[in-house]
Amino acid sequence: MKKQIEVNHLSFSYHDTTILDDITLHINQGDYVAIIGPNGGGKTTFVRLLLGLREATSGTIMIAKQTPKKARNTIGYLPQYVNFNMDMPINVMEIVLQGRMQKDKLFYTKEDREIALAQLEKMQVSHLKERKIKELSGGQRQRVLLARALAKEPTILILDEPTASIDLEGQKEIYALLKSLPQTKIVVSHDINILFEGVNKVAHINKKLHLHEGVSETIRKNDGHFCEMELLDILKENHV
Ligand SMILES: Nc1ncnc2c1ncn2[C@@H]1O[C@H](COP(=O)(O)OP(=O)(O)O)[C@@H](O)[C@H]1O
Ligand SMILES: [Mg+2]
Repeated sequence: MKKQIEVNHLSFSYHDTTILDDITLHINQGDYVAIIGPNGGGKTTFVRLLLGLREATSGTIMIAKQTPKKARNTIGYLPQYVNFNMDMPINVMEIVLQGRMQKDKLFYTKEDREIALAQLEKMQVSHLKERKIKELSGGQRQRVLLARALAKEPTILILDEPTASIDLEGQKEIYALLKSLPQTKIVVSHDINILFEGVNKVAHINKKLHLHEGVSETIRKNDGHFCEMELLDILKENHV
């Protein structure tokens, strides 16, 4: 298995407050990593470090042997909070095309439009391509933003709480779509139901990181029933 992301002894502080403490995590190509943990535990800070949007206080991050900043164009990112001006006249297609934006690029090509449309189809929302943002439900909006992240044709997807404001049925649908994507995936969620859907590593982050591999196989019951208590036990064992 090819190692794609190597985080070694990473620490991060704001002033004198340690937010992340000595985190080591190796991610292989094709891994599907769930990052879980309490609010304020440092999950968003960790993904922003992966994207090179913050500098480590100590330790290193390498993504395909490059620094996060250099590797950023290979990563599709869905931030935790996307603030749209709801009055913006921009439509869905134009939002997805932003994923094709590059430095010094003046206009979108026909290929850009084809790629953008293909991603909307993959997320099953191509019928909404003329809609304005304010005309979308929460779930539709997240699918459009996922399509924008995919339009970049990334090798890695990093999604920060992609289903936070979506009902349970909508969440399941989005996780089913995610499972079908071939990219290396890192998905932050405080909803452990994400573990239903093909995750092979769970990183629990609360200042420190505790990793559990092969969770799906360990906790998945024959009838597909998922036991939250069992997962918590596994993570507890992992803490010792
Ligand atoms: N710009 C900032 N300055 C100081 N502290 C911050 C800043 N951003 C986040 N924090 C703190 O860092 C900690 C981790 O936050 P965050 O990474 O957003 O956690 P999570 O995503 O797990 O909820 C929190 O205690 C938060 O208050
Ligand atoms: Mg967060």
